[in-house]
Amino acid sequence: MIGNEETHDVERLLPPPIKRIVVDEQLQPTIVQPPVADPVAATGPSAGAVRAGARAHRRGTPGPERMTLDGLSVSYGTKRAVNEVSLPIRQGEVLALIGPSGCGKTTLLRTLNRLTELTPTARREGRILLDGQDVDELEVTALRRRVSMVFQQPNPFPMSIFDNVAYALREQAMKRPGKAAVEPQVIDALRRAGLYDEVKDDLSRPALRLSGGQQQRLCIARALAVRPEVLLMDEPCSALDPRSTAVIEELIQELRSELAIVIVTHNLQQAYRVGDHVAFMYLGDLVEYGRTEQVFAAPRAQRTRDYVGGAFG
Ligand SMILES: Nc1ncnc2c1ncn2[C@@H]1O[C@H](COP(=O)(O)OP(=O)(O)OP(=O)(O)O)[C@@H](O)[C@H]1O
Ligand SMILES: [Mg+2]
Repeated sequence: MIGNEETHDVERLLPPPIKRIVVDEQLQPTIVQPPVADPVAATGPSAGAVRAGARAHRRGTPGPERMTLDGLSVSYGTKRAVNEVSLPIRQGEVLALIGPSGCGKTTLLRTLNRLTELTPTARREGRILLDGQDVDELEVTALRRRVSMVFQQPNPFPMSIFDNVAYALREQAMKRPGKAAVEPQVIDALRRAGLYDEVKDDLSRPALRLSGGQQQRLCIARALAVRPEVLLMDEPCSALDPRSTAVIEELIQELRSELAIVIVTHNLQQAYRVGDHVAFMYLGDLVEYGRTEQVFAAPRAQRTRDYVGGAFG
């Protein structure tokens, strides 16, 4: 059951920033109204959802809003990939972004730290705020330090484990720091990424000799080394085996207390396990946004029901 505090949270968050559902490209969009009372608070998650695995943590009070998406749209040429999405991204919680292939998840994620600017045809409208400041006003490398990204395929640099993590630290320094100067931060980042114990005997080993799961944790360490405020993860486990996936999910649970995390995943059970809130996208639209239990147990939009239905079989 969900406790009173949780119920209170849910109520405090309503109404959620739902936009509209595009049921079909040929049909008129249907507006989804917020519920009068939160159905999950009344009934709890479905038995199926509960069977899917105990969530490793219970939700506390949501932290401060670190990023705000306000009517964010992105087009490639004339094709719209993200359509007027408004969302909060809060410290101390994980936002799971789900939806079918091609619905704009990666585009949305890459726009948050202005990576889409590297695509010449991409054009953005709407605002993105980081701690209340428009990201367009920030220097782009400073923004990417504060909002850092981990990609689907682990992409360690062809250098040692140590240098992979030190690279990010050295890049932001005015004068290239020596090994001794960055060593404490490198070790700290490897620890926070849950990799240190496995590699501590030889940090000079080439990173490319690590396993896939270790390489991904190294990339997470590299992203964490610069102490970001927001961590963006685009299907970080899709190239990994179940054991490595479990290790990374545990890591996400631990990191969420100090960061705001946005994770894109095709794995609905993973979204359920790690997400505090879930955003469901379809054809560039944000169809539904809500607390994880609500989106899975009592989706408000038919399109969401169709997508998450059967996730817990
Ligand atoms: N560089 C690009 N140039 C043109 N169109 C693009 C580009 N990148 C993505 N798109 C298009 O934008 C839409 C959204 O793509 P995006 O990669 O954001 O989807 P996604 O939800 O991440 O999909 P997947 O789950 O397959 O990773 C798609 O129609 C895609 O073809
Ligand atoms: Mg993608």
